[in-house]
This record gives sequence, C-alpha cells and structure tokens, in this order.
Amino acid sequence: MAPPSCVLMKDQIINPQDKFGRFLKDLRISVTDRCNFRCVYCMPKAIFGHGYQFLPKDELLTFEEITRIVHIFVSLGTRKVRMTGGEPMLRKGIEELVSQLANISELEDLAMTTNGSAPLERIQTLKDSGLKRFTVSLDSLDNEIYQKMNDVDFPVSKVLKWVDACIEHGLEPVKLNMVVKRGVNEDSIVPMAKKFNTPNTILRFIEFMDVGNSNGWRLDDVVTASQILEKINADVPIEPLDPNYVGEVAKRWRYKESGNEFGVIASVTQPFCGDCSRIRLSANGSLYTCLFAVKNHDIKSMLRDGSSDDQIAQHIYNIWKEREDRYSQIRSENTNDLPKVEMSFIGG
Ligand code: GTP
Ligand code: 5AD
Ligand code: SF4
Ligand code: SF4
Repeated sequence: MAPPSCVLMKDQIINPQDKFGRFLKDLRISVTDRCNFRCVYCMPKAIFGHGYQFLPKDELLTFEEITRIVHIFVSLGTRKVRMTGGEPMLRKGIEELVSQLANISELEDLAMTTNGSAPLERIQTLKDSGLKRFTVSLDSLDNEIYQKMNDVDFPVSKVLKWVDACIEHGLEPVKLNMVVKRGVNEDSIVPMAKKFNTPNTILRFIEFMDVGNSNGWRLDDVVTASQILEKINADVPIEPLDPNYVGEVAKRWRYKESGNEFGVIASVTQPFCGDCSRIRLSANGSLYTCLFAVKNHDIKSMLRDGSSDDQIAQHIYNIWKEREDRYSQIRSENTNDLPKVEMSFIGG
C-alpha cells in the first residue's frame, strides 16, 4: 500500500509537534489485552480473575487495519514501532503482522515486549518475519520470587532460556525489564545486575509505577532509582552514560570495569515527560497520548467507516497538536485516583 499523502501537509511529511513542542516519533501497539501471567504490579489476580471481561475478538483491530494505521503514522514521520500487549505472543498469527510491518521501508525500528513464555521455536519465525529486537520482562532470578511476581507459577528457567535463545539467534542486545517492588524483589537487584553484566543484554531497573487503578500502588512500595543505583554501586562500581537519543526512557549506566550497559527507568522520581514522543494504540483501536491517560481517541471507527488515509492522518495530526500530557511530572495525591487506563490494556 502506498503511504498516504496528507492533505494538510501538501504531500510533505510534517512530523507534528504537541503543545510542548514534542514530536510524534514512537508508536506502541497493544495487539491484545490478554496475558498468561498475572504480575502483581500489572494484572493482579483479584481484579483480572476468571470473570474478567477481555476484549471480544471482533473488537480487535485486524492486522490489515494495524498495518494501514502504521503506514499513516509513518506518513506523519513516526519511525519506531513496538508491539506490546498484554502479552503480544498470545495474539494468534502475530508473525503475519510482523511481516506486514517489516515491509514498511521507512520504519527504522520494530520491537516487541514479551514475557518470554512462548515456545522457543517462535523466536526464529519472528526473526524471519522481520522483527528486529525483543524486550523481555524478568523481575528476579530467584524462582520463588519470580513465581510470586508472575503469580501463575511460571518458572524463571524458561524465561532465561528465551533470553539465551534470542542471543543465539542474533537478536541482541536483548533488553530486560525488571520492575522493582519494595519488599518483593529488592534483593534480586544485585544478582540480576551481576548475571546481566554482559555485552549482549541491557537490563533496565524500573520503578514501580502507578499506572492504571488496579495494582494497589503506594509510593512506599517504590524502590527509587537512586536506591537501586546505590545498591549496585556498592557491589560493582558504575558510571553514567550519555543518552542514545533525545527522549530515551531509560537513563543509561555502565559497569566501570566491564563497560557493559544497564539502565534505570525512573518515571516516579525522575519523570521524563519533557521529551516524550510516544503514542499508544490499544488493541481495540483507540489512541492514547500518555501511558496514564484518562481519555482516549477512537480511531477504529474511522478505519471502518470509509475515511481516507488523509482524513485519518489529519485526525491524528490534530490529536497530537492538542497534546498536553505530562502525567509523571504532575503526579500527586490527586492524580492517584483518576480513572487511568490499565498497563495490560495499553502496553508497557
Ligand atoms: P527502547 O528505547 O525502544 O529500547 O525502549 P524503551 O526504553 O522505550 O523501553 P520499553 O519500551 O521496553 O519500556 C520499558 C518500560 O518503561 C515500560 O515497560 C514502562 O514501564 C516504561 N515506560 C515506557 N514508556 C514510558 C512512558 O512513556 N512513560 C512512562 N511513565 N513509562 C514508560
Ligand atoms: N510499573 C512499571 N512497569 C510496569 N510494567 C507493567 N506494569 C508496570 C508497573 N506498574 C511494565 C514492565 C513490563 C512491561 C510489559 O510493562 O516493564 O516489562
Ligand atoms: Fe502480562 Fe507483562 Fe503485565 Fe506481566 S507485566 S501481567 S507479563 S502484560
Ligand atoms: Fe509520556 Fe505520559 Fe509517560 Fe510522561 S507520563 S513520559 S507524557 S507517557
């Protein structure tokens, strides 16, 4: 499909800027709201139990619709796409979507965030389909702690095999996401840092965030970036690195001796809204201009009502121009109770 030419932009690609001058560069697509894990900080069982109503299949965007919308985003200057969920590997035939997106030549990056529980054979298939890299969620090396966090008794050994297999298939460096929750996996910080002090992995320690309304977030449960860094530095000396690009989520660090990299994502204590260039598309076709959004913008109906690519591009352009989100910067007691979208719905 040829990329659309946007009426307003008279065939020129104009990357929209929001009210704070931030460009739209990075699209994160949730391909399903389902997950086979029930991580305590994301989909606690008490809320996401047997009776929980996930999206019915006919409400999900088809792969063709997703590919169409990515073309439209590309016409607006977006160059980076990440597939998320829920757990994206649960979306049937995801390899087909990866192939369709990998064919969009303007896209510079095509990544997926997964919990690393799918059969290992699928890594090769995804690579063949054009996936460039994986980010794998992994919160501890200690099986007991890991199982307590995923809350479905999934063994850590299987995820470690997934990480190794990604490296064997040349999909490296593999990024690893470790959400740190006080009193749960703090003691896993140093063992994780040591294990992934390697050139083919980049571990990111993530402050537990108040995303959604179901994870029972309390400020007291947050182990701050500075506390995390202090623990690591006491064991292995570290030093900061410059960012790779403007708007990078993780603050980069390296182990002084080996030079290997790791990162810290400190949305709570060091918000990074100032350069935030990310927009999110839910599995049922709504756009969210912030991870903590209370409002969404339906795009599925435009995809299904005969609107042209130019009209949809114009609509997205207008949404982004009006954007004022900077939730992490204004987070306060009052924002805690807002009806926020769930992370499993909108993706990590
Ligand atoms: P690359 O730079 O593309 O490798 O990825 P990334 O650094 O954006 O990392 P990734 O997409 O894996 O995001 C890691 C984690 O950072 C997510 O799971 C979230 O917990 C958090 N995160 C990502 N984007 C945002 C954001 O826009 N706002 C906030 N508050 N947190 C975010
Ligand atoms: N705080 C921080 N990160 C979270 N994730 C999910 N819930 C939270 C939370 N409450 C992120 C993890 C995981 C990704 C899918 O979503 O980084 O790897
Ligand atoms: Fe599933 Fe990832 Fe959420 Fe865990 S963090 S419940 S693996 S979507
Ligand atoms: Fe971007 Fe919202 Fe995250 Fe701030 S809180 S970095 S605006 S997604």
